[in-house]
Amino acid sequence: MNPELRELAQRYAGALHDYLVGRGEAALQEAYDLGRKALGQGLGVHDLATIQHRALLKALLTARTRKEASRTIRGASKFFVESLLAFEMSHRRSQEVNAALRESEQRYRGLVDTARDVIYTLSTDGTIKSLNPAFETITGWSRTEWIGKRFSPLVHPDDLPRAAELHRAVLEGQVPPKFELGILTKSGAWIPGEFVATPLVQDARVVGVLGVARDITDRKRAAEALRHLNEGLEEEVKRIAHALHDEAGQLLASVHIGLAEIARDLPSHTAQRLEDVRGLLDKIEEQLRHLSHELRPTILDDLGLRPALEFLADGVSRRTGLKIAVEGAPGKRLPAPTETALYRIVQEALTNVTKHAQATGVSIRFTRSRRLLRCVVQDNGVGFDVSAVSARRGARGLGLTGIQERLHAIGGTLDIVAAPRNGTELIINVPVEADSAESDSPRG
Ligand SMILES: Nc1ncnc2c1ncn2[C@@H]1O[C@H](COP(=O)(O)OP(=O)(O)O)[C@@H](O)[C@H]1O
Ligand SMILES: [Mg+2]
Repeated sequence: MNPELRELAQRYAGALHDYLVGRGEAALQEAYDLGRKALGQGLGVHDLATIQHRALLKALLTARTRKEASRTIRGASKFFVESLLAFEMSHRRSQEVNAALRESEQRYRGLVDTARDVIYTLSTDGTIKSLNPAFETITGWSRTEWIGKRFSPLVHPDDLPRAAELHRAVLEGQVPPKFELGILTKSGAWIPGEFVATPLVQDARVVGVLGVARDITDRKRAAEALRHLNEGLEEEVKRIAHALHDEAGQLLASVHIGLAEIARDLPSHTAQRLEDVRGLLDKIEEQLRHLSHELRPTILDDLGLRPALEFLADGVSRRTGLKIAVEGAPGKRLPAPTETALYRIVQEALTNVTKHAQATGVSIRFTRSRRLLRCVVQDNGVGFDVSAVSARRGARGLGLTGIQERLHAIGGTLDIVAAPRNGTELIINVPVEADSAESDSPRG
């Protein structure tokens, strides 16, 4: 027996003796305290049992009759139970903690098992460690076919370098923004997945990757449908622009000819007044031409976004007196749907400024980084309460919603910074190809 245990044994025997000779509650309290002390010293129930056993033998030696002996045994057993109380309590506490842990684990499991997104973990070398049932529903593979294997054959070959790069970044402790990868299904088809990945940390060390992947097939389809719709609309706008330009132009030309004929037959002072009317007609023609170009600027196809927007700004400026500055450059030519969308968006933004802002100036600023084109349209007008307007659902105009939908179709985003009396700023971000091979030449 070590000294600590021996001291405890001696105190225990003493207290038991006190109890047996009738010191009652105080001695029982001592039993409880000794139990706690034993627990505190890291002793186990078996140590206490040994101590109890020895103390009981010693006490029995002094018993003179069977009756006395059995009283001693009964008393000692009550004393022993009291000394075990601290152990009992600690045991119960740990049971409670375990139950709470189990419950939390079950809740977490339930969440993972019923999630509609794929939840997975990878080890540092890219081995799949776990997958939830959604993986089976979405891809058609069974989980056992992939757990324990590398993730790479599941990723589209074109996306693999990026997937590997992101895996490394997460292992370095970064949380990259959402990213998209093509994923192989059992049927051999590829589906688009949107991924969020974070480091899997254990004992303050990154031991892998925890990720959530969402099947965005439907979203992609909706965006595609929207793109078709917008392309259809563009065709319609083109038709109207041509009608305005060509047919109205021809009609005006006929009116000109008619007027000229009338002027010939009139005395010169009346003919002069007709001359004024013809001047007005010229202005109308000029306006119509400008409007039809704004509606569907051939400049956009021929020269690109910035010249087209300058043309638009010039027209709006002349009609309304607004000062409009176009700054920065959108960079290389963008895909036609992106250029058209941005043109329409700025067009709607300028319409809003003239309709609602009571502004004197607007700036349209472009900045381009490697993968992102940003266009900011800022006015110095009265501003508005963005959340109130967004909450107006159904009743609100189609403008801002239309802008959002157009952006959605090309993967862009819109942020509005506005407050009453503080101007309005539309911040438009559009993803662009990093190293696009597109030239600055006109499009066919
Ligand atoms: N530049 C702006 N300045 C002030 N208010 C604006 C501006 N742009 C939009 N708004 C506010 O947002 C509302 C919604 O705009 P929009 O969706 O284009 O619909 P509409 O122009 O048909 O009203 C407008 O009614 C207006 O109250
Ligand atoms: Mg509007």
